[in-house]
Amino acid sequence: MTIDTLRKPVRKAVFPVAGLGTRFLPATKAIPKEMLPIIDRPLIQYAVDEAREAGIEQLIFVTGRGKTAIVEHFDYAFELETTMQERQKDLEILEPTRIRPGNLVAVRQQVPMGLGHAIWCARAIVGDEPFAIFLPDELMIGTPGCMKQMIEAYEEVGGNLISVLEVPREEVSSYGVIAPGARRGALTEVLGLVEKPSVEAAPSNLIISGRYILQPQVMRTLESQDKGSGGEIQLTDAMARMIGQQPFHAVTFQGRRFDCGSKVGFVEATITLALARPDMADDVRTMLQRVLAG
Ligand code: G1P
Repeated sequence: MTIDTLRKPVRKAVFPVAGLGTRFLPATKAIPKEMLPIIDRPLIQYAVDEAREAGIEQLIFVTGRGKTAIVEHFDYAFELETTMQERQKDLEILEPTRIRPGNLVAVRQQVPMGLGHAIWCARAIVGDEPFAIFLPDELMIGTPGCMKQMIEAYEEVGGNLISVLEVPREEVSSYGVIAPGARRGALTEVLGLVEKPSVEAAPSNLIISGRYILQPQVMRTLESQDKGSGGEIQLTDAMARMIGQQPFHAVTFQGRRFDCGSKVGFVEATITLALARPDMADDVRTMLQRVLAG
């Protein structure tokens, strides 16, 4: 395999969104958790905005039962747009939801068998190209965004990349963890990967934070894979098997990350983003002071 085939442009992104969202019940009984809003955008919109900023053209949603609202959100809403136009309302607000025809594909994950299995469900659409993965629970705010930072690194080194960040050592067991090699600027060579290790067994406190650029060969690796941590087909295990066969690097994200899979992280993201919005910041700050004063 030549280096050039490991540097093809990244045009496609997979968004695994089939999860049941049990941590946010009952809110997520009838609404996908990815549609819960952080202020006035659903969580999934932040990941899609980040993807488009990075030059991603085709969005591949791996969905499941009860998740069609996500696809609807990025569809052309004929009745809504026509009515808004008749009432001379500004349609600009809908711009982030506009995906060019043919550039949104949904595939179904029929049984919840893990992240690796969800990604594998997209194999026919991904085809023989490198692709990005976004876990929308992880809200990444940076200038440029996380995926754009990763694409810049990819253009330099090619191969496979994951975004990483440091967490306190006692938290590593909730994540995929890297065994780091040589470091150069934001790039770290990845020598090993382990999913949800015990604190004692963790090779570092650098965790995989929900953004990936992978070569299509990972699909074949996933195909023949046994269940791993939690009895699920783990993406981390498939990636670990590719180390040594293809370049594998981690990019330390310059920016802020919010874990919107947790309730406190979700509230933190909401408050932080509200305080960063010129149209709301002053009012929100005053409101927060009032709330904290009891
Ligand atoms: C998944 C990945 C894990 C990664 C994490 C980031 O875990 O398997 O490697 O660190 O996402 O959020 P999950 O949160 O699905 O258990």
